[in-house]
Amino acid sequence: MRRHWQKKPLLIRQAFPGIEPPVSRNDLFSMAADEYIESRLVQQKAGEWTMRQGPFVKRQLPTVKTPAWTLLIQGVDLHVPAAHELLSRFRFVPDARLDDLMVSYATDGGGVGPHFDSYDVFLLQVQGKRRWRIGHMNDAALIPDLPLKILANFQPEEEWVLEPGDMLYLPPRWAHDGVADGECMTCSIGFRAPVRDEVGREVLQRLLDGEEPVANSALYRDPSQPATDTPARIPSTLQEFTKEAVARLVESPKALACALGEWLSEPKPLVAFDEGAPLRHEADIVLDRRTRMLYDDEHVFINGESFRAGGQDAMLIRYLADHRFLPAAQWGRASDEARELLAEWAQAGWMHSTGDDEVTA
Ligand code: SIN
Ligand code: CO
Repeated sequence: MRRHWQKKPLLIRQAFPGIEPPVSRNDLFSMAADEYIESRLVQQKAGEWTMRQGPFVKRQLPTVKTPAWTLLIQGVDLHVPAAHELLSRFRFVPDARLDDLMVSYATDGGGVGPHFDSYDVFLLQVQGKRRWRIGHMNDAALIPDLPLKILANFQPEEEWVLEPGDMLYLPPRWAHDGVADGECMTCSIGFRAPVRDEVGREVLQRLLDGEEPVANSALYRDPSQPATDTPARIPSTLQEFTKEAVARLVESPKALACALGEWLSEPKPLVAFDEGAPLRHEADIVLDRRTRMLYDDEHVFINGESFRAGGQDAMLIRYLADHRFLPAAQWGRASDEARELLAEWAQAGWMHSTGDDEVTA
């Protein structure tokens, strides 16, 4: 993190020795047929690039003998326990920054062309080989009129062939091009970063939505208003009053932090939880793999909702958020109030007793 995160690329040979792909080729093809899973097919035919969005039934995919195509499946961690587990190995970065695990399958020569991404990425080779070329982004110009973003003047500076277990980290906006050397599979561990304008707008919106109109809120007063001969001009004191009114809406750091946590913990689009089984008393608790749980000094946030927690309960709940797991012995010590919350969250399908999660998720 000190030397490379958001600063410079890093190639780690055998970061995951003996790694197995988290999904088989066939499972990946089945996922491509699911309308609730984001998939893309990129193909190069006679030098022409094509890109199509899924879903695809199996016969819409080229055969595995056809060279130079790639299938990309987003958010595999939401559906496949092994992919969720692999993604969780990257929790040395805060959850608020972690996005998803994408899996790409490619036949020989397949890839998405030289491009750059706006976010950090770890590219982990899980099957077969891929040749990566990377370089600084000296020129962001794209080839016009293509269905995907391909750099017009890619200048590679380094080149490596990655084998299963090897991993390449790239900070945002590094130009890169990965081409399959034979059939291969690559996992992209992707991150998210709020856009300043967007987080500002989202948090403000939430603050306003949660705001009760204050009954005795101050009325604008202007005892020093002189008689005017420019009656259409808005008084500058009214402009000042407005500035102060807006500042008041956002003056509570706790309310801001609360709105931020609720926003960050919103489940991914298309995630719907099914009603869960009651927690079993003698069993440990695990978070559902689709649950987003975060906390700050005052609150815990789970799937877009905020709760205040203090004392021993806060410790337990933070433990659950950090480990996504709570041993039975620990939650046995929670207050009645906290147990009730846990029971509600389990009923919402957000967490399960260990052993139950595989069947319900
Ligand atoms: C791929 O896996 O083919 C593309 C990943 C990337 O370049 O970000
Ligand atoms: Co990329």
